[in-house]
Amino acid sequence: MSEAMETAVLELRHVGKVFDAGKSTQFRAVHDVSLTVRRGECLGIVGESGCGKSTLARMITRLTDVSEGEVLLCGRDISALRGRALRNAYRDVQMVFQDPYSVFSPRTSVGTFLEDGLVYHGILRRREARQEAKRLMELVELPDELLDRFPHQLSGGQLQRVVIARAVSTRPKLVLLDEATSALDVSVQKQILKLLVELQRLYGLTYVLIGHDLAVVRTIAGRIAVMYAGAVVEELDAAELEAAMHPYTRMLLNSVFSIHDRGRKIIDLEEMRVSHGHGGAEGCPYRERCMFAGPVCAKRRPPLEEKRTGHSVACHNIRAVRVNEGQTGND
Ligand SMILES: Nc1ncnc2c1ncn2[C@@H]1O[C@H](COP(=O)(O)OP(=O)(O)O)[C@@H](O)[C@H]1O
Ligand SMILES: [Mg+2]
Repeated sequence: MSEAMETAVLELRHVGKVFDAGKSTQFRAVHDVSLTVRRGECLGIVGESGCGKSTLARMITRLTDVSEGEVLLCGRDISALRGRALRNAYRDVQMVFQDPYSVFSPRTSVGTFLEDGLVYHGILRRREARQEAKRLMELVELPDELLDRFPHQLSGGQLQRVVIARAVSTRPKLVLLDEATSALDVSVQKQILKLLVELQRLYGLTYVLIGHDLAVVRTIAGRIAVMYAGAVVEELDAAELEAAMHPYTRMLLNSVFSIHDRGRKIIDLEEMRVSHGHGGAEGCPYRERCMFAGPVCAKRRPPLEEKRTGHSVACHNIRAVRVNEGQTGND
């Protein structure tokens, strides 16, 4: 089968999440998200705290129900599966969260944790699992003395390596990483990202890498989806990021540059939460913060439209943004 024909590992079709917020009010945390992730790809999902990234991840892994749309895993709609059928469908999906300590029981040693993963998934019997656990430690560049230690005896970075080792040990079709490096020091974060790239190369893994820091996400993602107030506002190749068109992505990019230029961050996205209406049906959700917003932005939500091959944007004012940023070229 040609690559273009091959079924995507993950396909989201018009996925939405509505939470009940009080008696008769509803809160739309995710709005009409459509994304495709092919085998061997790394899709980065970036946006500030509260924009709906984790809710989207939790729907993909069915830790929460899907309110609207379809989630297809290797071509199969899993959004309505329950019970055993759901568990079977999720054999091939692994998730890595921000806090590795939360994944461990404090009384489970590192070795047992790795062995349990292999045994539970029916990959090896207990007797053979210890040897494989040793190999996994080597793979994630940890000394095998650590196999007998307990979670509180390891650093956050070491423990996250163990969690990643277990995630890849089951040969998953999809690995979802939600802020997996956000709690780590910058130098440790870089090492973990390097490890993820290496594992992807070795095993042809498919990643969805979620984070609030564009500078981090862009280092390993091939494609990037930018979320704002529950919706994807721009999607493009990571290599094309400098040509981003949405005012929000431009703002993120400029704050990334400021890190490199002056060694400090002007805007801390983790502290900046989406506070307003969160994607009501009318108007552009970004308009209150947008320097380009005009009357049309209050009236109509801009659809996510492909402006160039592989580059989609949801904005009424792309022309004005480009003039302001000194970008040239045709729409
Ligand atoms: N179980 C829930 N019930 C109600 N609101 C929720 C629930 N989970 C998340 N939210 C809200 O949905 C929005 C998106 O949250 P989240 O997906 O965690 O964002 P992110 O991961 O991008 O920081 C937030 O406003 C959050 O408060
Ligand atoms: Mg989150």
